[in-house]
Parts: sequence; C-alpha cells; structure tokens
Amino acid sequence: MKTLLVTGGCGFIGSNFIRLLSAEPQWRVVNLDKLTYAGNLANLAGIANERHRFVQGDICDRILIERILKEEKPWAIINFAAESHVDRSILDGAPFVLTNIAGVQNLLEAIRTYPVERFLHISSDEVYGDKEDKESSREDSGLAPSSPYAATKAAADLLCFSYRRTHGLPVIVTRSSNNYGPYQFPEKLIPLLIRNALSEMELPVYGDGKQIRDWLYVEDNCRAIHAVLENGNLGSIYNIGTGEERTNLDVVESICDAIGKRRKRDVREVKRHIRLVTDRPGHDRRYAIDTSSIRTHIGWKPRTDFAAGIKQTVDWYLDHSEWVSAVTSGEYRDYYDSVYKQAWSTGQQSA
Ligand code: NAD
Ligand code: DAU
Repeated sequence: MKTLLVTGGCGFIGSNFIRLLSAEPQWRVVNLDKLTYAGNLANLAGIANERHRFVQGDICDRILIERILKEEKPWAIINFAAESHVDRSILDGAPFVLTNIAGVQNLLEAIRTYPVERFLHISSDEVYGDKEDKESSREDSGLAPSSPYAATKAAADLLCFSYRRTHGLPVIVTRSSNNYGPYQFPEKLIPLLIRNALSEMELPVYGDGKQIRDWLYVEDNCRAIHAVLENGNLGSIYNIGTGEERTNLDVVESICDAIGKRRKRDVREVKRHIRLVTDRPGHDRRYAIDTSSIRTHIGWKPRTDFAAGIKQTVDWYLDHSEWVSAVTSGEYRDYYDSVYKQAWSTGQQSA
C-alpha cells in the first residue's frame, strides 16, 4: 500500500479525488486541510476508513508538514490546497498570496528535507490568461494571469519549476479548466446558479454573459490527476480539459432546462430569474487549452459530456439540500452580499 499526502482534501476537487481513490485498496491517504470556509468534512461523508487519516492544519505550517512527512513517509504529495475563488481574490488578495504562494513554497522546502517520489501540484488554465481571439494555450505557452487568484497560481507554478531546476525536486503540474460537479461550494458559477434557481433567487450573469469557459466534470479531472500521478513525467505540465467551449449564457440556460425538467416546472418560469449584472473587474473573456499532451502521452480523455454532467450535478444538489443549507448559512451570506449587492453589482438588467 502507498501513502499519499493530499492537501486540501476537504474541498471540492480534493474530496472528489479522495473518493475516487477510496475505491482502490492500494492507496492510503493522509488528508491535510485547514478547513477554511471552503473545506468541509461533510464532503468526505461515507468514506472514513482505516486508509484515510485526516489532519487539520495549514500548508504554511512547516513544523506540522515536516512532522507528517517524517511520520507518514508518503510516496507523493498532491497539493489541492488553495484559495480558489477569483471573486474573493478581487475583494482581498492577501489569503491567496499566503496559501497559494507561501504555502506551496513551504511544501517544496519541506520535501527537500523529507523527500517524496512525486510532488503533484494542482494548477489552473487561468495562468495562461485571456485567450479571446487567440490560439489555445499549450503547456509551453506564456503565462499572463489576469486576477490576483490567477497570479498566485502562476507564481506557484514558477516556484515549483525553480525548485525542480535548482534542487532537483520531482515536480509535476496539472492545469485544468473549470470543474463542476458534486460538492462544489456555491460561490462558483454552476453551483451558485443551481442553488439560486432552487431558491427562486436571481441568476446573476456577469457582463454580457458571452464569456467562454471549457467545463470539465470533476470526476474526469480526478481520473486525469490520478493518471498523471502514476504515469506523468517529472518536470512536466499537463493541461486537462474537454476542448468544448460554452458561453456563460449557454450554461445558465442548460441549468434552467435541467431544473425545469427534474422539478417539472415551466422552464420559462425558471429562466425569468436570469439577470445580467455588473461585470467582474478584469474578467477574462475566454479560456482555451490544448489538451493533446495528456491525451497522447497519458491516454486520458473525458468521459462525461456537458449534458450528462449538468444533469448529474443538478440531481446531486437537489438530493443534498441539507449540505447546501449548511454551507450557505453564516459567512456565505456576508460574502454573497459583498459581491452581489455591494462590491461591483450595482446595475442590473434582464437578460
Ligand atoms: P476549494 O476552494 O473547493 O478547496 C480548497 C481546499 O483547500 C479547502 O478544503 C480548504 O479548506 C483547503 N485550504 C485552503 N487553504 C489551506 C491551507 N493554507 N492549508 C491547508 N488547506 C487549505 O478548491 P477546489 O475548487 O477544490 O480547487 C482545488 C485546486 O484546484 C486549487 O488549487 C485550485 O486552484 C485548482 N483548480 C480548481 C479549478 C476549479 O474549477 N475548481 C480548476 C482548475 C484548478
Ligand atoms: O479555469 C479554471 C478556474 O475556474 C479555476 O482555477 C478557479 O479555481 C475556478 O474558480 C474557475 O474560475 P472562474 O472564474 O472561471 O470560475 P467561476 O465559476 O467563478 O466563473 C465562471 C464564469 O462565470 C466566469 O466567466 C465568471 C462567470 N460568473 C461567475 C459567477 C460566480 C457569472 O457570470 N456570475 C457569477 O455569479
């Protein structure tokens, strides 16, 4: 059995990744998570077993990280831990710099003393910046992050490769497109729209709603990460995405259709709540990545198309209303008001 140190395993992608591994007896997981607003032990409900150890803690805490590495001798580290939401980074970039940059540097320093076979760092296609009227980004394309969030992710990627070159560390980086699926905190577009539609609240779409993203079902990303962990080349970057492009307005329409169908409601009634609201400052118009490397060298491809993924996601949120209520009480309300009622959402019009 091999032990993995998974950081951020109580968040959206990390918990889906741990769930995927829990079906495979050859892996044992030590899950280190600070339990920020986005971290939730309930995301791991039903998979607590002797092959999963949870440690509450911060990736910036060197003493803790070194203690875990010494005790557990993990074969690899997979670093999901991050501040992950662009809008929050616009409100306050400070926690992003701490976790996404200093935290990663701390992990890299720790494995200089307590080596692992692989350090798999989870990055984002946002590091390439806005691709409106431009070619898709390849792994060797330049970095041009737009938001404070994306800038911290790009900085972490650069640190990883500097530690590889300087200290020979076994670094691999994945850069995926936008994920969606079960257990995503309802601050990101898809779960926020689903939650609002179920509560008959407004469905806020920034700007003209014609921004383009490549939506990847989270389980497909987790399978890709798993494959890269086992078969990826040290020192390499792997883009992960479907290659399908969709505007935000298309996404909101699909969600309304899926909710109308499942709830047997008139779809026009659900769509009546769509609002074009003031745009996100610095908003990237389009992300687009070339994923031929992971497809050719690792043999991965996505399995869930958008129609099926949205249906499964809507069904999951409808069937987990207690989870939604628990994560949208307290701090969430203040956050919601600060983005949608105060910070930049002043003007509103019907779509
Ligand atoms: P998330 O916000 O849902 O989860 C982040 C997790 O990290 C939480 O459990 C949180 O408690 C934990 N965490 C935060 N700061 C920490 C710290 N200092 N120490 C330890 N734990 C800490 O994020 P996610 O959507 O699951 O994203 C996971 C990773 O994937 C991030 O690195 C993100 O940048 C990257 N990514 C996300 C997407 C996406 O669409 N969600 C796409 C590409 C890349
Ligand atoms: O591309 C990968 C990135 O995808 C990840 O690195 C980030 O962690 C993740 O948050 C995500 O970033 P985005 O900013 O693209 O995701 P978000 O869900 O916040 O927004 C998706 C699109 O929808 C974007 O164009 C902004 C828009 N949007 C978002 C929200 C929350 C709206 O129109 N209305 C909204 O209320």
